[in-house]
Amino acid sequence: MIQRYVYGNMIETDTIPVKPEAGNEPLPGFTVDEKEHSFTYPLGKEDRIYGLGENVRGINKRGWIYQSWASDNPDHLEDAVSLYAAHNFLVVDGEERFGLFLDYGGKVTYDIGYTEMNRLTIRVNDFNLDVYRISGDSVLSIVQQFREMIGRSYIPPRWAFGFGQSRWGYVCEADVRQVVRKHRELGLPLDSVYLDIDYMDSYKDFTVNPERFPDLAGLASEMAGQGVHLVPIIDAAIKKEEGYPVSDEGIRKGYFCTDKDGKPFEGAVWPGISLFPDVLNPEARKWFGRLYKVLLDMGIEGFWNDMNEPSIFYTEASLEEIRTRLMDTVGATPDVNTFFELTGIIREVFQKDEIYDSIYHHVNGKRIRHTDVHNLYGYNMTRAAAEAFETLAKDRRILLFSRSSCIGMHRFGGTWMGDNKSWWSHLALNFRMLPSLNMCGFLYTGADLGGFGSDVTEDLLMRWLELGIFTPLMRNHSALGTREQEVYRFSDLDGFRHVLRMRYVLLPYLYSEYMKAALDNKMLFCPLAFDYPEDRRAQETEDQLMLGDSLMIAPVMQQNARGRMVYLPESMKLFRFLKDGKAIETVLGPGDHYVECELSDVIFFLRPDHLIPVSSGGNCVAEVDFDHVHFLTYPVGNEACYEYYTDDGISRQAAGTRILYRMDEDGEVKALPQ
Ligand code: GLC
Repeated sequence: MIQRYVYGNMIETDTIPVKPEAGNEPLPGFTVDEKEHSFTYPLGKEDRIYGLGENVRGINKRGWIYQSWASDNPDHLEDAVSLYAAHNFLVVDGEERFGLFLDYGGKVTYDIGYTEMNRLTIRVNDFNLDVYRISGDSVLSIVQQFREMIGRSYIPPRWAFGFGQSRWGYVCEADVRQVVRKHRELGLPLDSVYLDIDYMDSYKDFTVNPERFPDLAGLASEMAGQGVHLVPIIDAAIKKEEGYPVSDEGIRKGYFCTDKDGKPFEGAVWPGISLFPDVLNPEARKWFGRLYKVLLDMGIEGFWNDMNEPSIFYTEASLEEIRTRLMDTVGATPDVNTFFELTGIIREVFQKDEIYDSIYHHVNGKRIRHTDVHNLYGYNMTRAAAEAFETLAKDRRILLFSRSSCIGMHRFGGTWMGDNKSWWSHLALNFRMLPSLNMCGFLYTGADLGGFGSDVTEDLLMRWLELGIFTPLMRNHSALGTREQEVYRFSDLDGFRHVLRMRYVLLPYLYSEYMKAALDNKMLFCPLAFDYPEDRRAQETEDQLMLGDSLMIAPVMQQNARGRMVYLPESMKLFRFLKDGKAIETVLGPGDHYVECELSDVIFFLRPDHLIPVSSGGNCVAEVDFDHVHFLTYPVGNEACYEYYTDDGISRQAAGTRILYRMDEDGEVKALPQ
């Protein structure tokens, strides 16, 4: 059951397509303080808190303070409070069980047992919001009701489930060709190459650098011939430059965000001084979305929207403030604090909230302060593109994912987890975000595999890919200046080939489970706690996840480990696929096990009386035979069924077929007549 509570007058977010009627009763269990803008709930000893999508810390969010405030935070450590996205949905599971969604575009703070261990306090910037309370008899039923309310999750084309290679540093056509040639020559599967900002002319969106990419349409079609899709980046900021049609037209039509005097707001990002499309304004959104046409016309079928928190490096004013404050220190006798003062000034001024306070949107005749809708920006940029694709690419799916997001955007695109580092701790953090993102509707997601910033090591890349073969978005991406990170740069080519190929072997299952999760509003990655709610150990297991109906994953996320401890809430069959082609199947009983997993081994677990449809692989998704699958099984004497979803992988309607396969008591699998 879903109950809506209205406080003040919210600024519309368009998150919920059809809103339930609001009641007049108070929000049960919470003390609501309108003056403090807060909601407080006493936490019981057993209460666990799940959700908040893309954020730091554990799957159980208890014991920290989090903020919904989309932030460009590439170096995040354990003490961060917010990342690139802002997802206002959580579930309290314990003495009481309910979900809570805050329909709100401004800053929200969730103090989940931080100030006081037994208190949850949610504080909003101003008290104009709708709150939804969802009750149900399991966490899964709460999540499903919530997901039904917010609408169907984004469905990408099927090729977007293939492996993608990306690097900020592919600066010309030859770089792209080299990546593809290497993959094809070495038998390393590949479906996409990403184009980072260097494909553009002076970092201007919707332009192509004429020297370095003289014929992007030609390149796209040449790559298509090899089963590879090019996926260019689109940044939120538009270079301010006379003669650049996007800048000129946007200024002329009033489609950019303004400052307090009504002039276009200017902030610096990659192109230098830039303007920010007012994507909250429906007309500007329509205009911005249509701009993608120029690339679609060149045969491009996928995009990643970036820097859309929006990230702003500086403004003229903030730069001036830094200069003045630094100048003030000239002449002073340096002491031990000088270094900290100087670096502190710079850190303080960059990305400070005052910049956002000085930006305005214009929506249906109303002026809105950016601070009050900050978290809606990336969502609306992505929505702009997705809404335009509805007419520009009527009958086919376009790949689209975004760095920043809030709930609502899940209908229009996927999200990647933003900049991370080549750190083992970020591998583990990205793993834990998967179910939290699914709860908030984001199914098409994944991290920069291998890590974006810092230098990767061969073993870290291998282990990260061993997780990546299970995430819908599987992309190796790294930053300019870091160690080159394509798999062919490293020594164990057979190992990498094996790991990548396993993705394509598993694709029938992964795609089928993805589609069912999207169409039926289900989780794809589930904490063990949701599937085994009575099992205390399952509740505390945060380094294993259920994936779809049949499978459990437990990747190795520790350097130099040649295996790991795995907790099985019930008996499962362990599959261990080795790079020499061997597959070892071992039935394990419930409880703790040390499971061997050498560097290039792919391991996963199958539940009893469950099935996994697999293919014999391919060099790209187009080569995978989704129509003739075979099954990995673990029969324990009961009849079991698997509902296999398949479609053409490209039509928007996603009206595929669901074939029911039945395994009899002896493990024999047959399709039931439809
Ligand atoms: C941002 C993006 C990253 C990209 C870089 C350059 O940091 O998050 O993925 O490579 O910008 O465009």
